[in-house]
Amino acid sequence: MDFASYIRDIEDFPKPGVVFKDITPLLKDPKAFQKAGDALLGFTHNMQIDKVVGVDSRGFIFAPMLAQKLGAGFITVRKSGKLPYSTISESYDLEYGTGILEMHSDAIEKGDRVLVHDDVLATGGTAQAVCKLVEKLGGEVVQCNFLIELTFLNGAEKIKGYPKEVLLQY
Ligand code: PRP
Ligand code: MG
Repeated sequence: MDFASYIRDIEDFPKPGVVFKDITPLLKDPKAFQKAGDALLGFTHNMQIDKVVGVDSRGFIFAPMLAQKLGAGFITVRKSGKLPYSTISESYDLEYGTGILEMHSDAIEKGDRVLVHDDVLATGGTAQAVCKLVEKLGGEVVQCNFLIELTFLNGAEKIKGYPKEVLLQY
């Protein structure tokens, strides 16, 4: 399937000079939505995975489905102040702005094999912070997968220690 035809470019969003990759046309189309999910799942070919970590907020679209299909638990990494229990945190640089990501301190068991999923790999700051959170709790990141990689932002450099899979590269 030509997934790229379901991704819409939005110029100057969220600020001037940025071309935003809008995945909502893909989500809106039943076939494309399903096939994109199947493709992400296919990246994990029979890997044993204990936890799938989804990244607030657009990582939450596919990560729970991946967790259910893989027989894994679903873990939310959230922007600061959203999680109610005790948390660990990492600060990160975004393509636009900076922030703090948090994970519950009991989210990962030592030795857990973890799949990290997000919609977009841009500068890699987000994914790198998520991998650090997983490792702080003794988990092993066995794959990071994304719908989209913006290769010109070199995010792959930041997560080069981890296997990476991507549906669409720009
Ligand atoms: C976007 C995107 C990724 C992240 C990638 O999320 O969904 O999570 O940026 O950027 P990076 O590789 O440069 O770190 P954003 O923080 O805009 O929030 P959202 O998912 O809540 O829309
Ligand atoms: Mg995001």
